[in-house]
Amino acid sequence: MEKEKLSFEEKEKLQKIIPQYQGLKWGLIPLLQRVQEDLGYIPRGAIRSIADALDLFPSQVQGVITFYAQFSMDPRGRNIVRVCRGTACHVRGGRTILKVVKQNLQIEEGKTTEDFKFTLETVACLGTCFLAPVMMVNRSYFGKLVPPKVQSIIRQYD
Ligand code: FES
Repeated sequence: MEKEKLSFEEKEKLQKIIPQYQGLKWGLIPLLQRVQEDLGYIPRGAIRSIADALDLFPSQVQGVITFYAQFSMDPRGRNIVRVCRGTACHVRGGRTILKVVKQNLQIEEGKTTEDFKFTLETVACLGTCFLAPVMMVNRSYFGKLVPPKVQSIIRQYD
């Protein structure tokens, strides 16, 4: 979901962050990390101001954002749902779990619900294969999943 215009709150946050890195070309990654953390994404509308402050071209800033998976230019949901698509989860029904999550949220992977409550991602392995199939919501792990459990977990965050 693209969003070009910045909200008042977003502008205020950017005005606090960007000047701290004025003229510091090396500061691009830490600056982007701060913006990602504070705003939940890096708005397209902020790229020019970031580039100007660091004396870079907007295309350089955009290139770094696209290169690193940790950065996103799309606003993300308040809750990030990560479903494991690794082998251990796959053989224990991970694909069904992903299908149920998609049905419940009514979005595809990589997308955000219209109300910005949820973003759905898939991950190669969540590092808790013994709990397969596994998903995470924000920082919490949910393992040994079955479809009804998935529904009730999502409802908790709705
Ligand atoms: S394969 Fe799913 S947690 Fe490792």
